[in-house]
Order: sequence, then C-alpha cells, then structure tokens
Amino acid sequence: MRNKVTVVGAGNVGATVAQRLAEKELADVVLIDIVKGLPQGKALDLQEAAPIENHDARLVGTNAYEASEGSDVVIVTAGLPRKPGMSRGDLLTTNAKIVRSIVEQVAPLSPDAILIIVTNPLDAMCQIAFQTSKFPKNRVVGMGGALDAARFRSFIAMELNVSVESTHAFVLGGHGKTMVLLPRYSTVAGISITELMPQDRVDALVKRTRDGGAEIIGLLKTGSACYAPASAAVEMADSILKDKKKILPCAAYLQGEYDIHDLFIGVPVKLGKDGVEEIIEVSLTEEERAALKRSADAVRSLIESLDKMRL
Ligand code: NAI
Ligand code: 2OP
Repeated sequence: MRNKVTVVGAGNVGATVAQRLAEKELADVVLIDIVKGLPQGKALDLQEAAPIENHDARLVGTNAYEASEGSDVVIVTAGLPRKPGMSRGDLLTTNAKIVRSIVEQVAPLSPDAILIIVTNPLDAMCQIAFQTSKFPKNRVVGMGGALDAARFRSFIAMELNVSVESTHAFVLGGHGKTMVLLPRYSTVAGISITELMPQDRVDALVKRTRDGGAEIIGLLKTGSACYAPASAAVEMADSILKDKKKILPCAAYLQGEYDIHDLFIGVPVKLGKDGVEEIIEVSLTEEERAALKRSADAVRSLIESLDKMRL
C-alpha cells in the first residue's frame, strides 16, 4: 500500500520536504499552499524530475484540502519565517492563526494522521495543533530537536574530523534560545564529546548550535534555513511511516515526564507507526534540570500570551 503525506506550506521548507519524501519514495505527496499556482507549480516541477531521480512517487499541488483526505502523516510548514533580528517568538500571533486554520481544515479529512509541526515558534505551535485537532497526544509531534541535534552532530564531526555517521547528539527543551544541549550524552562512537575535546571547544559548539538558525538567517538575509529542517522533518516521517522506532529529540506533550506538565517541549521520543510511542526519560544533573525548567517556562509564557489574546 502506498503511503500518503500532506505537506502544508509550499515555501522553502515545505517544497524541500516534498522533494525529499518523493526522492526517498516514502510516500505520495499532496502539497498545499494559499498562494495560487505555487504548490501546483512546485509539485509539477518535482514530478517532472522523477524520471531522472528514478522515483515513482506521485506529487499533487493544490490550494484546497480535499486532496489531502486519508493522509498517514501531515507536515505543517506554513507560516512566516524569521527575518534577521527576529526571534522565533516574534512570529507567534500570525503563525498561531495560520496553524489553527490549517489544522481545522486538515484534521477532519485525515482523522488518523500523525501531525508533524514545523512552523515556529515550534513548541507553542504544537500546542495549538494539539488543541485544535483534538488528536491524542501521541499523534501530534514537533520538529525542532531533530534539527538542533543534526546541527550539533555536524559541528562535532567538523571539529573532530570524523564521519557524521559516528556522531550522536542529545538535545532537550524548546526549539529556541533556551534549548538544552547535553554534551555528556553527545558522543562519537559512544564516547562522550567531553572526553574528546577541551571544555572551551564543547562550549563553542554548544553556542554555535544554539545560534544555528540565526547563523543561517544572518547569511541568507531573506528567509531562514530549509535544507536541514526539511531533512529533519523527513527523518521523523521516515521513522513513523516505516515504524522504525528511532529515538529522536522531538517536541512532545509532557504530562509529568521530566516534572513538566501539560506542555509541548523537546525530549527524546520513540517514533513509530503510532507517532510518539514513548518518551525516554534520562537522569539530569541539577543544572541540566534547571535549564530545562527555564526552557519550559519560556515556552509556557508564549502559550499564556496567546491565551490572553484568546488566539
Ligand atoms: P516560506 O515563507 O518559504 O514558506 C511558508 C509558506 O507558507 C509560504 O509559501 C506561504 O504562502 C505559506 N502559507 C502561509 N499561510 C498559509 C496558510 N494559511 N495556508 C497554507 N499555506 C500558507 O517559509 P519557510 O522557510 O518554508 O518556513 C516555514 C515555517 O517553518 C516558518 O515558520 C519557519 O520559522 C519554520 N521553520 C521551523 C523550523 C524548525 O526547526 N521547527 C526550521 C525551519 C523553519
Ligand atoms: C531554524 O532553527 C528557523 O527554526 C529555524 O533554522
């Protein structure tokens, strides 16, 4: 049976997600955007690459939701990206309205789908998608940590001149300035990076990862990162569609895990056919626990400001 994935938002991230899904033959893809012609043009262009890329995925671009019916996975990438100097939180109100209206349309047509949210500010947008869809908590998950971990792994590999395939990175917390990178659980061939490089280099890589999104925005001037974010979202979709049960850092709804209640935030999860099948809890030092609490407080304050505006 063919899988079906709907990607909402045919911008930089969404179109790249569609491309990667098709080229990996993970699913047939429905690409949706509000701009007339944009998803149709991108989907047709990607379809015409199929004979050269040797894939048989079918891609459809549309401005309406009907074609998304019965999707296995829906990936929401629609919304404004940051401009230089903006924080992810600056996108809050506009993107909250966009994500709510999309989920209202997509969820009834694909009541069994797993929603992967990409739109920023990520953790708050997951909360909106969860409330709007009324899906069970395991079927709403956010992409943030998978990207942050990929960035950290890239920097570790560059620093130590080793294959990225030998690296592993551990990230907790919100996708933003308060993200919590755990170097002692980040490894090369199972060896903690704290044993492989001096502390000042560990600190430098942590800082570069935390500022990773801003570094790309600063270089591009218009728009934000799309290739690594798309890879990270597709890595999650791959684990779900193939029931691989990969352990990935994702925004998941916590109800007491890590002493956090009723909030989406990044934690290691097992991703399989049922979405978030398990939240992995690891022991944290006092300092790490405090950093995670600060991150959770920052996410919660964004959500409270939306509640105050009744958005
Ligand atoms: P983009 O501007 O290239 O694309 C966004 C697309 O959304 C546009 O084509 C726009 O027409 C569409 N859109 C807007 N409102 C819509 C609606 N109501 N229905 C359907 N489509 C709608 O932006 P880009 O770079 O693709 O980023 C998209 C979002 O993803 C941004 O919020 C960005 O901050 C976020 N992002 C999140 C990452 C993460 O790690 N969670 C990483 C990279 C981007
Ligand atoms: C990033 O980290 C913009 O959240 C996006 O690149």
